[in-house]
Amino acid sequence: MLERRFAIIGHRAPSNGKLSLNDLSGSSGRMDVLMRAINASLFLSHGIRNDSNITLHLMGGGGPPRRICFEGSKVWGLHPDERALAGQIAKIIELPTPARGLWMELHPGISHSGGDISNTLEEWQNDGFKMIKLDANGPLIWQPNDSESYPKIGFIISDDQAFTSEEDKLIDKFAISKSLGNKWIQGHIAIGIVHHLLDNQFQLNLD
Ligand SMILES: C[S@@+](CC[C@H](N)C(=O)[O-])C[C@H]1O[C@@H](n2cnc3c(N)ncnc32)[C@H](O)[C@@H]1O
Repeated sequence: MLERRFAIIGHRAPSNGKLSLNDLSGSSGRMDVLMRAINASLFLSHGIRNDSNITLHLMGGGGPPRRICFEGSKVWGLHPDERALAGQIAKIIELPTPARGLWMELHPGISHSGGDISNTLEEWQNDGFKMIKLDANGPLIWQPNDSESYPKIGFIISDDQAFTSEEDKLIDKFAISKSLGNKWIQGHIAIGIVHHLLDNQFQLNLD
């Protein structure tokens, strides 16, 4: 079992206040994109991946940024549909945002913290994760050859917008860029491809 983590940056996703469950793709700052990323990160056809975590970065709405982490090994009772997942987020963003780096568990496997991608990158570094910024313009992530064992790997992806230049500068201090192919695809599909490559032990090009 190769532990993997995903971090998605929701540039306009609200960190505080009310979430409109009837308009996840519009007034909710493309929350639909983030819900599909949770879905792709955690759900198998029947059941939940216990080797995968995802951290959402809610950067919109004007309040302090908030992170919400779903841990596949601990979470239970989670439903894969976007609206049900968004219902969980709606309840969480009504709560005060914890301090940066202070993770508070709300239900088994669902916790939130203040902070942004800079905090996540540092936490992953402290946990010994190799970090990959998923970026269609980077070199290909795999090479066709014999497999070797992988390190623990964390993947950083963006929502429907490109990483900002500030995010690029920060993330590039921690992570190398790797492409899954030369076409930009949706973030949740990129997650699915990563799972496929890792599950089937493709030899990755991690240099
Ligand atoms: C819909 S794409 C973002 C597209 C955005 N217009 C841009 O230029 O970054 C969402 C995320 O999926 C990941 N992604 C999409 N296609 C990819 C590819 N071919 N290789 C690696 N990552 C990819 C990237 O992390 C990207 O930020």
